[in-house]
Amino acid sequence: MRSRILGTGAYLPERVLTNFDLEKMVDTSNEWIIERTGIHERRIADQAEVTSDLAHEASVKALEMAGLEPHDIDLIVLATVSGDMPLPSTACILQDKLGAKRAAAFDINAACSGFIYALSVADAFIRSGTYRNILVVGAEILSRFTDWKDRTTCVLLGDGAGAVVLSPSDNDSGVISVRLYADGSLWDLLHIPAGGSKLPASEQTLRERMHYIKMRGNETFKVAVRTLQSLVEETLKDNGIKPSELSLLIPHQANRRIITATAERLGIPLDRVMLNLQKYGNTSAASIPIALDEALREGRIKQGDYILLEAFGGGLTWGSALIRW
Ligand code: UT7
Repeated sequence: MRSRILGTGAYLPERVLTNFDLEKMVDTSNEWIIERTGIHERRIADQAEVTSDLAHEASVKALEMAGLEPHDIDLIVLATVSGDMPLPSTACILQDKLGAKRAAAFDINAACSGFIYALSVADAFIRSGTYRNILVVGAEILSRFTDWKDRTTCVLLGDGAGAVVLSPSDNDSGVISVRLYADGSLWDLLHIPAGGSKLPASEQTLRERMHYIKMRGNETFKVAVRTLQSLVEETLKDNGIKPSELSLLIPHQANRRIITATAERLGIPLDRVMLNLQKYGNTSAASIPIALDEALREGRIKQGDYILLEAFGGGLTWGSALIRW
């Protein structure tokens, strides 16, 4: 039995931070950011908003499209690296905000690949017959973990949330295959040094700005390009699908150059690639469900279409999901 996506939803905070705003904050330029990343602007959560609020807004829309009520949900799997607090999980807080009283709930941390990891867990629960309706969410407020003095990271990141409702399929549509990978030996390419058991919060960690995201961007970029090209190639080959049969590639929105390199290598024209990072920047685990929701609501996905989701991020982690709509 396959699982299929019954509904999608997304939420982006109202406040827009443009590249021109960033020019006033750090030594950067609109031209540099566009040329190296493709990003024009990103959204920043209001001080009063927390990650579960963004997740809640996106989930309500996904439930509405699915035609389900919160009490229909059996499980909530929420991918984030910027949850409301270290304990409890943000999924539990979301469960309460939704009033999804029957649902079990837990978080997944696989950084930018978090949504693919969460989707794979939900898919396995549905295939095994354990649960029927699962809410899969990617939600981030990365702006609270961003060093606004570090031009190498602060121009990249944004806040947002996306959600899907996954349920059993009664035909051949649905999640065809999910692939997950990790290479923990490269954990330090992208990490937050302090706030865990290794370096608990202290005056020193605060002073040294160690609670913020650190990334060795260029090294990460090179691994990402290499890894994603073979990941997408293998996923299609193993499932007997030609690149020309793919209706839409929905990549994690980290960098336009990474995305176009993958598409070019496979001969997938850019009009069959979902790109919205120009508006939202890199929203980590939220980027794929936001892009999926946007593509669906714009009418870019039709019944029977093959779509491919792919992501790469901290951990390092990477993964793909091939779906027949
Ligand atoms: O989300 C999943 C994981 N993340 C990724 O996949 C992101 C991967 N990395 C990237 O997207 C790119 O590496 C970046 C956009 C972060 C950087 O682009 P790059 O082409 O790799 O540039 P670079 O890091 O090699 O830096 C080139 C130059 C450096 O100056 P020098 O040493 O050549 O004088 C940087 O200091 O650009 C400088 N630079 C900047 N200049 C203006 C770095 N950040 C900025 C900035 N504005 N914001």
